[in-house]
Amino acid sequence: MDGNGRWASKRFLPRVAGHKQGVDALKRIVSACPSRGISVLTVFAFSSENWSRPAEEVSGLMDILALALSREVPKLQRDGVQIRFVGARDNLSPRVKKGLEDAEAATAANTALTLNVCFNYGGRWDIVSAAAHLAAVGTLITEKSLSGALALAHCGDPDLLIRTGNEKRLSNFLLWQAAYTELYFSSLLWPDFDEPALDSALSEFRTRERRFGKTSDQIAGNVVSDA
Ligand code: IPE
Ligand code: MG
Repeated sequence: MDGNGRWASKRFLPRVAGHKQGVDALKRIVSACPSRGISVLTVFAFSSENWSRPAEEVSGLMDILALALSREVPKLQRDGVQIRFVGARDNLSPRVKKGLEDAEAATAANTALTLNVCFNYGGRWDIVSAAAHLAAVGTLITEKSLSGALALAHCGDPDLLIRTGNEKRLSNFLLWQAAYTELYFSSLLWPDFDEPALDSALSEFRTRERRFGKTSDQIAGNVVSDA
């Protein structure tokens, strides 16, 4: 969800105003998912590296998260959205940590949409934590055991990754899980990302041929045998 700061700067507003607007964009997209057949939505809200932003912006982001959780959990309940936070918890304030835990507990039984909010998350952090855990318990590291130890083990790999804000990089998001994910880059700033923008991304996704390392003929079923 990139571009909140630029959205605010263009309007001569403080960056935090862009993050607030970003929450509204997220609410729209969350509501749009179930009717489009999307059962898992994973968003990058705050990265392991975002702590190095100005203190005022970091505390503004924490306040926005706490406020959004206190306001939005009843709506998530009504809409059947299960919210899960993915990322390190140890360096979060007790207030924020409690907000995350309460929202997760309140929505744990919901099934219409799983909303993973990557918060204090980094793809490298995830892989290192998983590997360290496996090493500590003496489990052999394989693709399967490592996948199962990652913070998003409760979901399949993503089919489509949308990055807004006109940047074309992953910035430490889902490094392991995005191995075969289709990438889509939107020049819209996140607060401007709306249902038609989501639909454009989904239409483009439908035109992609996903080969997972195979050939086009294999995917089309034209290759009878590899003997
Ligand atoms: C939001 O966009 C992402 C967060 C880290 C919360 P940015 O804050 O990165 O916005 P830009 O890139 O400065 O416009
Ligand atoms: Mg940015």
